[in-house]
Amino acid sequence: MSKKAIEIIDLVKSFKSSEGLITVINKANFSLNKGELAALVAPSGSGKTTLLMMLGCVLEPTSGKIMIGDSAVYDEKWLIKDSRKLRREQIGFIFQAHYLIPFLNVEENISLLSLQNRVKPQVVKERVKEVLEYLELYDKIKYMPSQLSGGQNQRVAIARALVSKPSIILADEPTAALDKERAISVVQLLKKITREQNVSIIMVTHDERMLPFCDKVLTIHDKMIVVDENHHR
Ligand SMILES: Nc1ncnc2c1ncn2[C@@H]1O[C@H](COP(=O)(O)OP(=O)(O)O)[C@@H](O)[C@H]1O
Ligand SMILES: [Mg+2]
Repeated sequence: MSKKAIEIIDLVKSFKSSEGLITVINKANFSLNKGELAALVAPSGSGKTTLLMMLGCVLEPTSGKIMIGDSAVYDEKWLIKDSRKLRREQIGFIFQAHYLIPFLNVEENISLLSLQNRVKPQVVKERVKEVLEYLELYDKIKYMPSQLSGGQNQRVAIARALVSKPSIILADEPTAALDKERAISVVQLLKKITREQNVSIIMVTHDERMLPFCDKVLTIHDKMIVVDENHHR
């Protein structure tokens, strides 16, 4: 078994536009080990979300290769028969806004995807309890999102990402809507999760103050991914 959680090889993504083909990611390479927290820092419009969506098997690359664990999921074409199953079992998503459904309580929000994916209700219930206890949110299980703070809602969104025991979590600016203290506590929590749950996390951020908590800092330069492993100065 490889210690790598994700690897991309010569990954390319172009979009068709009215001005012709625009290449956003061009022959990008990088890998992330199991249990690592990586920050992805690059200017707006440089392809961060595009990269995350390809890693999450939501957006089809133009060419190249994506490995998730030991399996190639994309090699010039999708190799997986069931991308929903792969996402369900391996990948958790966290977004900038927490995207909790306002008229469902914490438990219902966290359960929704698993139930939709036909995981047995009793199994979902147990797992939701376990995750909420781990994130110290169990006392909020019946609360509505409107009754919680921004930081608490973002922790509920983290719980939702963790509920399926993913090997990878893709987080697109998870701290952007939070003040500094709350942002730092969310990043510290993400780091704790990588260590304790052996999950690899890629977190898009614009906030330099979050970088000291990360194992790796990735950036997009000349449409390629550049790794700065010596960012702890
Ligand atoms: N579906 C799409 N069709 C055409 N162009 C797109 C599409 N999605 C993203 N782009 C373009 O790709 C570039 C990168 O976008 P994005 O990945 O959202 O950047 P970031 O997340 O770094 O701000 C932008 O120039 C954007 O306009
Ligand atoms: Mg983006």
